[in-house]
Amino acid sequence: MLNEKVSKLLNEQIVKEFYSAYLYLDFSVFYEAEGLDGFANWYMIQAQEERDHAMLFMKYLQMCGEKVSLGAIDKPDKTLKSLMDPLKAGLEHEQYVTSLINDIYGAAYDVKDFRTMQFLDWFVKEQMEEEKNADDMIKKMELFGSDAKGLYSLDAEYATRIYTAPSLVLD
Ligand code: FEO
Repeated sequence: MLNEKVSKLLNEQIVKEFYSAYLYLDFSVFYEAEGLDGFANWYMIQAQEERDHAMLFMKYLQMCGEKVSLGAIDKPDKTLKSLMDPLKAGLEHEQYVTSLINDIYGAAYDVKDFRTMQFLDWFVKEQMEEEKNADDMIKKMELFGSDAKGLYSLDAEYATRIYTAPSLVLD
């Protein structure tokens, strides 16, 4: 049995991760409409990764014998007007997700739930990568995005991203 607060936060994180998937799907739709297939591809894959994160939280709760309760997923709420908007909203969102992971970690730490802390270690590392990727995309857009050839190259780079399943496996 998990601590009640830890279990609640883990359950809520399932919905937060699905919201992340939904948000990135919205970014993908935005770039597709702008004719930037590479950026659209990058966020489509990001959405798949977020769905994987949600499933990992769900599976962990199930492995612990905890009840899983799925809440409502909010509508994506970011205002997307410029090509930079999704990139900045993405970094802001990942920083928020990092704070959520830290909150769950803190709750697990408080009750000496070492198993949940070990499970969350993967997400702590993952969040470092997520924030770094989001920050890199902003920097590249600042450097090259105002030039047509530069933007074309960036789009071509993001078109090469392929989906890989998460390295964390729960059986
Ligand atoms: Fe599930 Fe982008 O963190």
